Amino acid sequence: MSSKKAKALQKIAEEILHCRLCRKGGTGKAVPGEGSADARVVFIGEAPGREEAKTGRPFVGRSGKLLRQTIRVMGLDEDDVFITSPVHYLPLRGTPSTAMIHHGRQHLFEQLSIIKPDMIVLLGNSACVALLDGKVEITKEHGTLVKKDGRTYFITVHPAYAVRFTKGKEMLLSDFAKLKRLIAPS
Ligand code: URA
Repeated sequence: MSSKKAKALQKIAEEILHCRLCRKGGTGKAVPGEGSADARVVFIGEAPGREEAKTGRPFVGRSGKLLRQTIRVMGLDEDDVFITSPVHYLPLRGTPSTAMIHHGRQHLFEQLSIIKPDMIVLLGNSACVALLDGKVEITKEHGTLVKKDGRTYFITVHPAYAVRFTKGKEMLLSDFAKLKRLIAPS
């Protein structure tokens, strides 16, 4: 791993830890994201849940277990990806506000400009609001690629939706099978 990139990511994690605006409307530990600075694929969720706020690590609760397992099934090592979200604290009101997403995405854009991944996977609507600048009808648009500002995005459902609904799990699994083909070296 390039230690220069890893150090730059560490600097952003520290910025997040000390950012008063990131903490506004949230609680628990800051969750700045984790993974490889050289990741080819970055996964972006919404905001930490209770488990994440306790540990400071992204996607370690129930939906996180499904996400991490699905990543492994794709043949990717967890250390070869980066997992993060636009909002870095557990929102006091459950769902993050657009203002929280718009503030938090500034740190997210910095992470992306350091990692420079080939593919950015948007897990659900908040990730789409953050990166595509608007709501997306996930149940219609899931499994599709979007190119914007020189980056390639892949839209899929949030793993929490996949944990809750059979239909959601089917969508997640079929999208990840497609993603596997898309990122396979040609
Ligand atoms: N949901 C998210 O979007 N991110 C997490 O880290 C956990 C749950």
